[in-house]
Amino acid sequence: MDALRCSICAEPLHPVNQSLRCERRHSFDIAKQGYVNLLHARVDAGTADTTEMVAARAGFLSGGWYEPLTDLLAECVTGHGEHELVVDAGAGTGYYLARVLDRVPRAAGLALDVSAPALRRAARAHPRIGAAVWNLWQPWPVASEVADVVLNVFAPRNPGEFQRVLRPGGLLVVAAPGPGHLAELAQRLPLLDIAGDKQHRLAEALSGRFELADRAETARTVSLAPADVRQLVLMGPNAHHLHRDGLGEALDRLTESVQVTTAFQVSVFRRLP
Ligand SMILES: C[S@@+](CC[C@H](N)C(=O)[O-])C[C@H]1O[C@@H](n2cnc3c(N)ncnc32)[C@H](O)[C@@H]1O
Ligand SMILES: [Zn+2]
Repeated sequence: MDALRCSICAEPLHPVNQSLRCERRHSFDIAKQGYVNLLHARVDAGTADTTEMVAARAGFLSGGWYEPLTDLLAECVTGHGEHELVVDAGAGTGYYLARVLDRVPRAAGLALDVSAPALRRAARAHPRIGAAVWNLWQPWPVASEVADVVLNVFAPRNPGEFQRVLRPGGLLVVAAPGPGHLAELAQRLPLLDIAGDKQHRLAEALSGRFELADRAETARTVSLAPADVRQLVLMGPNAHHLHRDGLGEALDRLTESVQVTTAFQVSVFRRLP
């Protein structure tokens, strides 16, 4: 709450009945599911994860297939000092933020995402999570230099706002696919390309403002049943392209488990003074 700012005038927000209000009387409703929508401009259709994608993501993640990434994120966060506020930029269902908070006892978590269906889940994912609907490409409705950690897990990256909201010495913890991630699925199914060397571009965008403090990788092969594969595909952008190159039919034809590489890379950048 203390870290949030009015998305129109940047004044602090205070709870008034079922809304958050600033001194200039800009007011934002708190949904009964516990998140606040701070958007006041329209966001392009197709930007936010849909209810169906979010349900697929929650289903897939509950299988524990990406648990090694959870552990890696938690180790990277706890290995670098004490933290009070963890902001998850593009938090989705709050799955990773909740598990990180479990290991950082008193810290509060702020989940930012443009998808209201995702934040309905994030708001309930942990008692110490607050959730706000926001478009990460716009200046964030967050005070300057208040975050100890910013998490960014397969989500849009805004280096200028990473720097502004983190306190000097604060940590930016970024997860990305590692080498060979889901390669076997890409061979069998007409999936969209996993975007190339984003890590390199991120390091360039951060240079001069952050130093690389740590980098860790984890990989393993898992055996996914057809229903797991379906959720994995439907939780991401491929969900918008089921008719492209027969992806929907190819999923329907899967009848046996598939051995799939899961690989993750986590980079920890420290904000320079
Ligand atoms: C691949 S999902 C990752 C979600 C979560 N970090 C996880 O790994 O489970 C990407 C998330 O970014 C969100 N997103 C996409 N564009 C966004 C934007 N411009 N502003 C805020 N969130 C955005 C989507 O709604 C989605 O929840
Ligand atoms: Zn205001």
